[in-house]
Amino acid sequence: MKRPRVRTQIATLAAAGLVGAGLTVFAAGADAATTTHEAESATVTAGVVESNHAGFTGTGFVNTDNAVGSSVQWSPQAAAGTATLRFRFANGTAVNRPMRITVNGTEVSPALTFPGTGAWTTWQDATVTATLKAGANTIVAASTTATGGPNLDSLTVIDRATGGGTPVAVNGQLRVCGVKLCNQYGRPIQLRGMSTHGLQWYPNCVNNASLDALAGDWQADHLRLSMYIQEGGYETNPRQFTDRMHALIEQVSARGMYVIVDWHQLTPGDPHYNLERARTFFAEIAQRHGSKPNILYDVANEPNGTPWSRIKTYHEAIIPTIRAADPDAVILLGTHGWGSLGVSDGGSEADVINNPVNATNIMYTFHFYAGSHGTEYLNTLSRAADRIPVFVTEFGTQTASGDGANNFTRSQQYLDLMAQKKISWTNWNYSDDSRSGAVFNSGTCPGGPFAGTSRLKPAGVWIRDHLKSPADAFPTA
Ligand code: GCU
Ligand code: CA
Repeated sequence: MKRPRVRTQIATLAAAGLVGAGLTVFAAGADAATTTHEAESATVTAGVVESNHAGFTGTGFVNTDNAVGSSVQWSPQAAAGTATLRFRFANGTAVNRPMRITVNGTEVSPALTFPGTGAWTTWQDATVTATLKAGANTIVAASTTATGGPNLDSLTVIDRATGGGTPVAVNGQLRVCGVKLCNQYGRPIQLRGMSTHGLQWYPNCVNNASLDALAGDWQADHLRLSMYIQEGGYETNPRQFTDRMHALIEQVSARGMYVIVDWHQLTPGDPHYNLERARTFFAEIAQRHGSKPNILYDVANEPNGTPWSRIKTYHEAIIPTIRAADPDAVILLGTHGWGSLGVSDGGSEADVINNPVNATNIMYTFHFYAGSHGTEYLNTLSRAADRIPVFVTEFGTQTASGDGANNFTRSQQYLDLMAQKKISWTNWNYSDDSRSGAVFNSGTCPGGPFAGTSRLKPAGVWIRDHLKSPADAFPTA
């Protein structure tokens, strides 16, 4: 059963000098790359290099033969992860010249569209996203019709660290479709990311360098910003905490990650206790950030000791506040028993299934700690995810206090289930707290280094591996 976390480190926001930190420009990490590869330098099958139509880059372009299978093959070096592939082309006809795009033998588009550009001297871009591996990748564009492909000028690979293939760039505004989370193409996706520790205790762990590492080296899809209400949190200075949240939302958004705005009520366990505060806070957050595509609202961290029927009325009270300013955002709803779908309070997922919140575009949250929560919780998650939309907004590989021994075997069972059912997950926590569930060794923040594994506890090494591999494979068509 989940218990409140004990405070061990106090750092006021003002002392940390982080209040009101504005939008910072993303500084690309070592892996960041936008590289252009000329077609005339690639491997051409059934085509010729020419230079008779102006406007190309480099020394020419490839005129693919007007035949099925004429192709250009590039072999760019890349970092592992999602990237945007941008083909520069001209098509002086009025007819689409589709090409099949493969990456390392895997089809990423059966027929990418290369429409008429108006003239052979008018060049445009066609883009597709793909998962690349570290090192050399084989990228092939092959004609699929007897009219052949367009004239191909170049391929530009934009990896996520430079904004091209970020989770938000690829997936856009999310929405709930059935019991899944879907992207802008209406396709189910799984987000994998991290949660901060309490922002009132560990503000030093959320800075430009740590966020660069989270987006680039860790390949996280989202960050949950964990704002406690009590225990020295929001209630002590609503203005300061709201401003801090504004600044952090901008910093995370600048790196192409989704943001979970976590109203981290915990004690008291009845979310109604903080309803008026929540209304004030979420009205301002939604008003300021509602036009962004990457905000998810987590309106009650871990209700506890309160029946589901009463938690439900809290959700139905706070949802309209958010919807008034951000009508299309996904809203995440805390469940009874510390986010256990009731199990830790003697209930079950049936409480929610039989008495769902009266709203759309919502997901129910599930929290688990693999060192404490075994088969009963695993089975609950598995059953529930077939019936209602579920988002794991918090989990740890250790015990429910966020401390103690890791159970990586059990954790792997959860991760396998969540991969199979495309249940999004969020690991607790991205801080240097002394407990085993904080990924960094004590004293890592604020200076880092945050990338790599030199400062990581075992849970950090494990979870970073599982964020990076397998790489995201977000569908785009
Ligand atoms: C013309 C044009 C070529 C082009 C070809 C085609 O010959 O000059 O650059 O490749 O049409 O239709 O494929
Ligand atoms: Ca041609």
